[in-house]
Amino acid sequence: MTILSGKARVAGIIGWPVSHSRSPRLHGFWLDRHAIDGTYIPLAIPPDAFPDTVRGLMNAGFAGANVTIPHKRAAFAICDHVEETARRAGAVNTLVFHEGRITGSNTDGGGFLANLRAYGVNPAAGPALVLGAGGAARAIAAALQEAGAPVTIANRTRAHAEQLAGDLPGLRIIDWQARSDALPDHALLVHTTSLGMSGHPALELDLSRAHASLAVADIVYAPLETPLLAAAHARGLRAVEGLGMLLHQAVPGFRAWFGVEPVVDDALRHFVAADLLPA
Ligand code: ATR
Repeated sequence: MTILSGKARVAGIIGWPVSHSRSPRLHGFWLDRHAIDGTYIPLAIPPDAFPDTVRGLMNAGFAGANVTIPHKRAAFAICDHVEETARRAGAVNTLVFHEGRITGSNTDGGGFLANLRAYGVNPAAGPALVLGAGGAARAIAAALQEAGAPVTIANRTRAHAEQLAGDLPGLRIIDWQARSDALPDHALLVHTTSLGMSGHPALELDLSRAHASLAVADIVYAPLETPLLAAAHARGLRAVEGLGMLLHQAVPGFRAWFGVEPVVDDALRHFVAADLLPA
């Protein structure tokens, strides 16, 4: 049991719904590991209550919060200052409260890159093919461009990819149907759609077209090994699991709120993964 003092640091995750979130478990692990006088709680807040709630949390002395679906764009609007990571991603996932001011950042892209590097994959090794054009794709494409990789997007709805390209100059767009044909031109494949998630159909992709050096990253983490990653493993390709992105994106928030630089290691990975296994 954790006993808090009157000076405890408090943070949490704001979502609607929020019950699926693994972030309380993840931050709870680090709080326990470092014996920090603090806590991190789930906050289920509907969209119309979001702005008032954020200001209320700040006034109540919270150190900050993570923001998840559907609030990431609304969080952008409420900030007094947004960092470049959030500006490029068009969304905020991390809020830090300090002296009555709200600062927003987006740690998804940085978390993605940190996870790639943890698997020994250099994000700038060559062109990246990103499948999908939602919020996660946007943050990842921006981070890959920043790291120096040319980025190609393939999305079911081409208009959504074109919107993204309007905000991120230099993006190349190809048809969704051309995704397998495009594999040989790329060093990295990043899958950001909901395909392959538990209860969803698998992504159709012909990995036989890829070079042996292709790295395959999936941001889906339930299941831990998606059909795409299993296919990559079967071909001897480097496969980067999505759970690591979730773990790494949490680091900057924890450091800002609780004043300790946390480490992503196997103990944390196993602790969070244990909660993802089918009951
Ligand atoms: P997130 O913010 O988590 O990335 P999102 O904004 O809902 O989630 O994005 C979902 C992505 O998955 C989109 O690129 C979506 O494609 P569309 O733009 O065509 O909607 C993609 N997606 C979802 N279901 C899909 C499916 N059955 N086949 C192909 N792409 C799919």
